[in-house]
Amino acid sequence: MLISIDDIDIQEILNLASSIEKNGPPRTYPDKILANLFYEPSTRTSASFAGAMYRLGGNVISINDVNYSSVAKGENLSDTIVTMANYADIIALRSKNKGDAKLASEVSSVPIINAGDGNGEHPTQTLLDLYTIYKKFGRINDLVVTFVGDIENGRTVHSLDKALIDSTKYFIPTYDKKIWPESDVYYLTRVQRERGSKGSYSMKKEHIHHIPENSIVMHPFPRNEEIPTWFDKDPRAKYFEQMKNGLYVRMAILSYFF
Ligand code: CP
Repeated sequence: MLISIDDIDIQEILNLASSIEKNGPPRTYPDKILANLFYEPSTRTSASFAGAMYRLGGNVISINDVNYSSVAKGENLSDTIVTMANYADIIALRSKNKGDAKLASEVSSVPIINAGDGNGEHPTQTLLDLYTIYKKFGRINDLVVTFVGDIENGRTVHSLDKALIDSTKYFIPTYDKKIWPESDVYYLTRVQRERGSKGSYSMKKEHIHHIPENSIVMHPFPRNEEIPTWFDKDPRAKYFEQMKNGLYVRMAILSYFF
């Protein structure tokens, strides 16, 4: 099960992802089926898990909008998970409530991968974030990391914060307009309006003028107004690379469980 970032050997996933990126997967899994079960919208997590499974030679059952499943007829999470575990070898679950992935893991006969549970955690996003950091700095500890945005409801922040144990961390909420501290990594997040968060913020040129040339700016995406498109071509902008790294990392995660 991968419910929290604490549940997995991070370095093993980074090594495996690196090997897959350089040489392709060491083996394929034509007999394996992934179920994508998504109670909330997704582009990157859903599509990259499907792409990863196909590239590993397997197949995917996709319920990307549970409103077109028996959930719309009142079926509860436990019954849905028990059902899907009959048809698939592993389930990637995105859910609305913190704790849903743990609940699912308690009734499932196949591994559950938490693909984001409400404002809880998003461990597979963290693994691809860490892989992006590792590729840039050659390490995932002894760094200075500034989180900007929705600290309270941003599940990607919660998982990454847990994983970065030997780093200096700063947290700047949306309403705080101060200049960012000198850091290696700036991790920006969207305001989670669907979870009741309010406010907005946008990166300004004065922020960029104060950040080191060798730093990186990350964002799990989707973005709203946090990062203007004029920054996209700056070499410090790493968010498109993060998305691409998601494919290698999710291939590594699926291989790890098979
Ligand atoms: N970063 C992330 O989880 O993106 P999606 O919501 O598009 O899956």
